[in-house]
Amino acid sequence: MSDRVNSPAARDIKYVLHPYTNLEKHKEAGPLIVDKASGVWVTDDAGNRYIEGMAGLWCTSLGFGEKRLIDAAMKQMNDLPYYHLFTHKSHNPAIDLAERLCEMAPGNMGKAFFANSGSEGNDTAVKIVWYYNNAIGRPEKKKILARIKGYHGVTVASASLTGLPYNHKDFDLPIHNIMHVDCPHHYRYAEPGESEEDFATRMADNLEARILEEGPDTVAAFIAEPIMGAGGVILPPKTYFQKVQAVLKKYDVLMIADEVICGFGRTGNMFGSETFGIEPDMVTVAKALSSAYLPISALLVSDEIADAVSKNSGKVGTFGHGYTYSGHPAAVAVAMETLNIYEERDILSHVRLVAPRLQDRLRGFQDHPLVGEVRGTGLIGAVELVADKGTKESFDPAKTVGAQVVAEAQKNGVILRAMPGDAIAFSPPLIITEEEIDIMVDRFGAALDTVAATL
Ligand SMILES: Cc1ncc(COP(=O)(O)O)c(C=O)c1O
Repeated sequence: MSDRVNSPAARDIKYVLHPYTNLEKHKEAGPLIVDKASGVWVTDDAGNRYIEGMAGLWCTSLGFGEKRLIDAAMKQMNDLPYYHLFTHKSHNPAIDLAERLCEMAPGNMGKAFFANSGSEGNDTAVKIVWYYNNAIGRPEKKKILARIKGYHGVTVASASLTGLPYNHKDFDLPIHNIMHVDCPHHYRYAEPGESEEDFATRMADNLEARILEEGPDTVAAFIAEPIMGAGGVILPPKTYFQKVQAVLKKYDVLMIADEVICGFGRTGNMFGSETFGIEPDMVTVAKALSSAYLPISALLVSDEIADAVSKNSGKVGTFGHGYTYSGHPAAVAVAMETLNIYEERDILSHVRLVAPRLQDRLRGFQDHPLVGEVRGTGLIGAVELVADKGTKESFDPAKTVGAQVVAEAQKNGVILRAMPGDAIAFSPPLIITEEEIDIMVDRFGAALDTVAATL
């Protein structure tokens, strides 16, 4: 990639083991080195500017260079740069944030457990489901159902929840007691002529059949993102969550809402659970919780679960789970300030104002010869590319058509991401303006045409 042996690119190739990267290809392709950023724009080390169409990894909700978040971190670092929450210790920033999250969260959340990433939050959810069922005398009720194409992270339990092949292959996953059910993608999996409502009924019936097959006394929880993100921005078909939750209630199966992407405004409501009528027993939040300025996540649990966990810890002698950085004061302070900004600037109204522009502009590609489905809501969307519009046949993955479009878009000055099945995802910072949406979509459109001309 770089002729200069000591260039940053050469040193990157030599020393950095990159997450989510084809490491062999990286030796040739090298890195895009991002140096600076402001608002929705990032600048590389050669001075080229790009719109960050993915808010980084669906996370920098307030864009880059938000001074109030930087000041909040600095102030907290000066006051108390570190303290922990183990063995009866606490600090005010963590107390304040736990209270605020429980009050604002969907469902009836009673306690917040802090972690550093979405993966750790979901790992904690798995452990608490198991601990809880042991606590209340149901040691057989341990299976957790997740969905094919769901994404819940990469730690051992979270990667097991994730329903994507490359998170399992050669990692010897998923682990015991985590299994996968249908992906509710109407465009891909509905029968010919099947309405969204009928498809949702079939998904719920299949779920019930699976619970009965496994044995209801062995099925503990179901985890779902309100909108499946990394699996390709897949929206639930109409009535899906209502029907699924009726099944879960019938068999006393807990509902875990993974709000890591949808939480804090992405869908136009504070939580995706509100958008789709989910009533969770546990909620995972991360990413936009701190606008990604510092790493922090939280698992919120209902009072009932918290009480059982508490009683069991009394019996065992301790709740034997926690991270050194659970509730790190600087991360917590940044999260609190992020929530203040959402409220003061009424981020939901802004999202609701500009989202139609994104959705309308993306739907403008519906007739493009390469486009199978355009989907999305709020400030999240995807354009799925297909080899044949009529039959919905996908491109051969080896052709990497989605990756080519993303690479062209990057040349045009917009950073996007190709999801499995050549779905190009859009998830810009929530502060994006209509003008910036137009620039982003125009540049994407030019990239799509360039690639279409080569096929
Ligand atoms: C829905 C969802 N859950 C969990 C995770 C994992 O979060 P992290 O990468 O912070 O571990 C992600 C990451 O993209 C996600 O999209």
